[in-house]
Amino acid sequence: MKATAEANANIALIKYWGKRNSSLILPCNGSISMTCDGMHTKTTVEFSEKYAHDTIIINDEELKKDEKDILGHMERVRKLAGIKEHARIVSESNFPVAAGLASSASGFAALTLAAVKAAGLSLDERELTILTRQGSGSASRSICEGFAEWHRGQKVDGTDSFAESIARKGHWPEFRMLATIVQESKKKVSSRAGMKQTVDTCPFYKGWLDSVDADLQAVREGILEKDFSKVGSTAEQNALKMHATMMTTKPAIIYWIPATLEIMHSVMQWREEGLEAYFTMDAGPNVKVLCLERDEKELTKRLSSLDGVIKTISCRPGDGASLSDKHLF
Ligand code: DP6
Repeated sequence: MKATAEANANIALIKYWGKRNSSLILPCNGSISMTCDGMHTKTTVEFSEKYAHDTIIINDEELKKDEKDILGHMERVRKLAGIKEHARIVSESNFPVAAGLASSASGFAALTLAAVKAAGLSLDERELTILTRQGSGSASRSICEGFAEWHRGQKVDGTDSFAESIARKGHWPEFRMLATIVQESKKKVSSRAGMKQTVDTCPFYKGWLDSVDADLQAVREGILEKDFSKVGSTAEQNALKMHATMMTTKPAIIYWIPATLEIMHSVMQWREEGLEAYFTMDAGPNVKVLCLERDEKELTKRLSSLDGVIKTISCRPGDGASLSDKHLF
């Protein structure tokens, strides 16, 4: 009853921001992301009678504060499989955890696939994204290869709120996401808390929701047509709209630090000069710069020379979650 899975992080081009049902994790809007091959998590799960309770070790440290309710997710898997055994979970990521870099996405995707396999369940990809979603919404997209869409769905039980790949990684191998790290420490307000506060207190949240469907359509089409300007410009504006809702909650949530703004202004300036790039940010200060392979080197050089930039991680469209036979223990 031991299994190991690997999953990549994903970065949303059209953001998931707000829940209509918090216990099932049903979103108020659909979202589209790229699964990023440069940022991955590997997780081994073993269910056994020898464990008195669940133990979770992330990057060599035992998890003390279960903010994302990983234990609740393990309970969900046990219930589905009809088993009682507790588990030992060991997980390793190759990028900063909880700094707005979607570590929970790759983490929950790898955990769910490993746990499902270790528990003896067999789920198809759609079912797996639905189960993963209940652990962490954005993680549902990390199950899928290349570019993924997580559908909002209409049903109250969430059975139509699933993720699927809308283009495989080989469809647009030139697409790049340069994760530009300006802060590696943990963010102050989690995305879970931030989106709840937005839904509860932001006067502009309705404006966000009213404009998302057009953004989804533009990015979906842009990906299929490989129209970089369409995808990049829509993604950039969508991220700014999401941040506008965060900034206007009570109390305000401002994830940006000076280096975040420095990158945003620089990208806009470079674009005016003919170097086509766009930016997007999640619930944190780090910026992800979108570009095509032809400009990757030049942009990496320019981004690295900006004040406050610690490092850049270049990602291309990556694989969906998969099983591995190389266990971590
Ligand atoms: C800003 O998926 O971390 O990154 O469902 O509560 O676990 P929970 O939230 P989470 O939120 C991610 C928000 C985002 C946008 C996105 O990835 O679409």
